[in-house]
Amino acid sequence: MSVEVDDVTRDGDAMDSTGLSGDSESRPSADAILARLSELRAGDAPTHGGHVLSYVYDSGLAELDELAGAAIAAMQPVNGLDPTTFGSVAVLEREVIDFMRDLLGAGPTADAADDQGDREVVGSVTTGGTESCLLAVKTARDLWRLGGGSGTPRLVAPVTVHAAFQKAAHYFGLDLDLVPVDPATGSCEPSAIIGRLGADVALVVISAPSYPFAALDPVEQVAAAAADAGISCHVDACIGGLALPFLPDLPPWDFRVRGVTSISADLHKYGYAPKGASVLLHRGRGRLGAQYFATTRWPGYPVVNPTMLGSRSAGPLAAAWAILHRLGRDGLARLAEDTMASTRELLAVVERIDGLRVIGSPVGPLFAVASDPRADQGRQVDPHHWADELRALGWLVQLQPSLRQGEEILPHTTHLTVTPVTSRILPELSAAMVLAADRVRGIPAVDPLAAMAALGGDPAAVVDGPLPERMAPLIALIGALPAETSEGLLTELLARLANPTRPSADPVLPGQ
Ligand SMILES: Cc1ncc(COP(=O)(O)O)c(C=O)c1O
Repeated sequence: MSVEVDDVTRDGDAMDSTGLSGDSESRPSADAILARLSELRAGDAPTHGGHVLSYVYDSGLAELDELAGAAIAAMQPVNGLDPTTFGSVAVLEREVIDFMRDLLGAGPTADAADDQGDREVVGSVTTGGTESCLLAVKTARDLWRLGGGSGTPRLVAPVTVHAAFQKAAHYFGLDLDLVPVDPATGSCEPSAIIGRLGADVALVVISAPSYPFAALDPVEQVAAAAADAGISCHVDACIGGLALPFLPDLPPWDFRVRGVTSISADLHKYGYAPKGASVLLHRGRGRLGAQYFATTRWPGYPVVNPTMLGSRSAGPLAAAWAILHRLGRDGLARLAEDTMASTRELLAVVERIDGLRVIGSPVGPLFAVASDPRADQGRQVDPHHWADELRALGWLVQLQPSLRQGEEILPHTTHLTVTPVTSRILPELSAAMVLAADRVRGIPAVDPLAAMAALGGDPAAVVDGPLPERMAPLIALIGALPAETSEGLLTELLARLANPTRPSADPVLPGQ
């Protein structure tokens, strides 16, 4: 669950405490406003120092944060909507795309046979992984229709594909065809994906690597089959795109692979940029054209948008651009190598913990941990009790619910994303991982029925009151409830956090 909020944000009076909503005489000073902001930020999970092993990507280099902050300030008033008015935006975007396509196996083609730009890799900077994924799907759908496809197209992907593709299928009207993965390894057989390809498939998506289990999907086999069938093939490298290029001995997964038609890679993950920067690259200028939306059919200014937004900040683009220039390939490589050294060490720590196991063979600086079925029942460590115990010790890791795929269940796991700064706290983190396991070894996983009983038999009770200290019961409920129910409850929970009225007012549960 992606909630890390201090209770202060659930306090209906929070906005009044500096008089922000008072009359003109009692307006707070700039200092008071900023003091309030610092107070709120102090209640957040720490973004630096390595205690949060998801959401944030701390390079450990304060210099990069300062550079990014200055770049954002320099671009603050600019509107990224129009690079003809703000030429700086076009230059920054060009340079970022050029760097990224080179990194992802596709330098500029000076190829005479490519005079239409069919093979040249081009793209856009977007506001994040989700926007890159959404646009990859929209582009493929539009190209499928242009190619004569009619009716509802299908999007084929392993079940581990990021939820952004579920959102894209929902937004853009595709049927999602999710392929099961091996519950023990989190990996998917190429034949299982290839067997689903057909004329109604607008896009097949594979990940490098997948977020839940860090599995590197079989890019070469799937992309080749997609190319033979004339189907678009997207590699989601949102999390791996700026880390995997520096790892030795991986099978090719980027534009060097025939049949890969687009790749997403997030600058705000292992590119260490502040949130709001990702790239979506396409093989061929024609494909990029299908990503754009343009209209001259209204009485206002001609609208030509490469991405989902209209007016947009150029700040994160400028910050990402500045960081790429400062680090260069060699700087990124050094950070990736440090991060991988920490990852290997943490994997070894988990392997030594009696009762826990790592899922599959993770590729890149992330991994998921499950209880070890080879250990006796009394020695097993439930990964969610372990996560809650780690949280009590000051380390935030991410709880992933179990998921039914057909007849099988993908186990509930705990996810860790490792960053360069992790190397500085490895001894403390490793000791905490061992201690947390010792404290919960043998405690059975939360029984969803017991979690339900604790709520008085009504799961809707989770939306009342403060966020729970321990997340295991809530995540067990999420794994057990029908998806429509858990999605409705979580929507309510999150909507209330941002609702200025008191939390108990206006229930918005679907069906009420
Ligand atoms: C593989 C993958 N794709 C897409 C996304 C979505 O990225 P964002 O959170 O930037 O929208 C993520 C985020 O972790 C990811 O790991």
